[in-house]
Amino acid sequence: FHSPTATASSSPFSDANAPNPPFVIGVSGGTASGKTTVCDMIIQQLHDHRVVLVNQDSFYRGLTAEELKRVHEYNFDHPDAFDTEQLLDCVLMLKSGQSVQVPIYDFKHHQRSSDSFRQVNASDVIILEGILVFHDQRVRNLMNMKIFVDTDADVRLSRRIKRDTVDRGRDVSSVLEQYAKFVKPAFDDFVLPSKKYADVIIPRGGDNHVAIDLIVQHIYTKLGQHGICKIYPNANVIQSTFQI
Ligand code: ADP
Ligand code: C5P
Repeated sequence: FHSPTATASSSPFSDANAPNPPFVIGVSGGTASGKTTVCDMIIQQLHDHRVVLVNQDSFYRGLTAEELKRVHEYNFDHPDAFDTEQLLDCVLMLKSGQSVQVPIYDFKHHQRSSDSFRQVNASDVIILEGILVFHDQRVRNLMNMKIFVDTDADVRLSRRIKRDTVDRGRDVSSVLEQYAKFVKPAFDDFVLPSKKYADVIIPRGGDNHVAIDLIVQHIYTKLGQHGICKIYPNANVIQSTFQI
């Protein structure tokens, strides 16, 4: 197990004296648009590169006891709900070839785990996924490629109801109330305006195999230009997902 600050990369793909910085891909879009699904599909197709996925959700701030008492009044869709400084540090460390320990977030209790983290190793490709990863200019500027997953709001809401009731311990009426009060307004105020920063917009998310194939082809081209070339055909894929 590596310490968060200590471990430099020894990528088999790069010159030890002049390691190439990882290629950073940002994937944004509204809640339940299929961001994670698209990332997983891209990662599968990049099987001969070392790829890690970092979820912005991991950087949600834990709620205080006071906030927890009034959780229905808490806006999880506002940029301030995230510890963006910590996210920025994490991506900067990964970009500089160091391993990091990413917090583990619990959507049922709105808290981070107090004693466990997820180890993310230095890699050739970093995918940063989340509703607001294009919001902060400093985070945006770390990205080599920006993808926006564009899925109709009714499809997203129906998926969200299903996911939040099955996986996140919510009831339907609280999901609908949160959606109307916070999720939809924040999508209009923060997520949708950040779409303009995208290099590529994928309609229909993971259903759009043509778009994903084209994106993967482009990533391969860019990795070649980036000096991160495939050397070992059967190199291990170091893939991590941080959704819980
Ligand atoms: P996001 O990361 O944007 O929140 P996810 O990829 O986690 O979205 O998808 C949200 C939910 O919708 C998940 O339960 C997932 O299984 C489901 N889902 C995603 N894409 C599709 C799809 N193309 N068809 C059907 N269900 C999907
Ligand atoms: O996976 P997805 O992109 O949908 O995750 C972001 C969503 O998670 C936000 O729309 C936010 O409303 C929701 N969320 C929540 N409860 C938390 C943290 C986030 O409902 N404790």
